[in-house]
Amino acid sequence: MKTNERQDIIHVDDLSFTYGNEMVLDDLTLTVNKGETLVILGGSGAGKSTLLRLIIALIRPTRGRVTVFDNDIAFLSERQLRPLRGRMGFVFQGGALFDSITVAENVGYALRIADPKISKMEFEKKVIETLEYIEMRDFYSVFPADLSGGQRKRIAIARATITHPEIILYDEPTSGLDPIVSKRINQLINRLRIEQKITSIVVTHILQDAFEVATRMVMLKDGRMVFEGQSDDLLLSKDPYIQQFVR
Ligand SMILES: Nc1ncnc2c1ncn2[C@@H]1O[C@H](COP(=O)(O)OP(=O)(O)OP(=O)(O)O)[C@@H](O)[C@H]1O
Ligand SMILES: [Mg+2]
Repeated sequence: MKTNERQDIIHVDDLSFTYGNEMVLDDLTLTVNKGETLVILGGSGAGKSTLLRLIIALIRPTRGRVTVFDNDIAFLSERQLRPLRGRMGFVFQGGALFDSITVAENVGYALRIADPKISKMEFEKKVIETLEYIEMRDFYSVFPADLSGGQRKRIAIARATITHPEIILYDEPTSGLDPIVSKRINQLINRLRIEQKITSIVVTHILQDAFEVATRMVMLKDGRMVFEGQSDDLLLSKDPYIQQFVR
């Protein structure tokens, strides 16, 4: 590794966000380093999804700064954001597949956006390669309605990874799945970190899943950070809210 290579690829500095009068994020500061899987834990309404939306600049800070790949993204136009977003993949809360097109078209969606004239051969090759990685090659021509919840989530992850992003943001990737299927998703998240060196933020409120994928954890409560550190330290915390959460 080159010594001058930046290790911190996302910076959130004194970030606040309000919806009307509601303070959703309150003066949050955190860094995401290259190669790590940072888990954001927190109860419903803590501001986790809002934080992800700010990091991809779907919404803009009320105060403070979000820096991604050294770019202060709050002030970039949609056109300036495009190349940065191309280096990131998103797995949205709920999976959000397009139900009227096949698994292959869902997975290859970003390829067509990047190059509307992509050849049939090139498209098929990349989609098949990506489906093989998640062990779903046979689902190429299937429609999303015929997939199980866990399969939908894996397809959503495949769709996010086909362009080989450097960062993936996952919003509740295991919500609504049973523990065995969740484990499979967690294994996939870990494989992407280990084999493809992808940096990830995983938002979840499920402690078991957090422990399975985290290389570091942050806990939010009412838009504030109440914990930052290693998984084991979370269990040792004396904070009453955290104790309630992990008990
Ligand atoms: N579009 C919106 N307009 C107004 N308020 C919103 C909007 N989106 C979210 N909020 C509010 O912001 C707060 C944080 O929401 P957010 O979705 O970030 O929470 P979360 O931690 O992701 O929760 P969950 O675990 O339920 O997904 C909530 O109180 C929510 O009601
Ligand atoms: Mg959410």
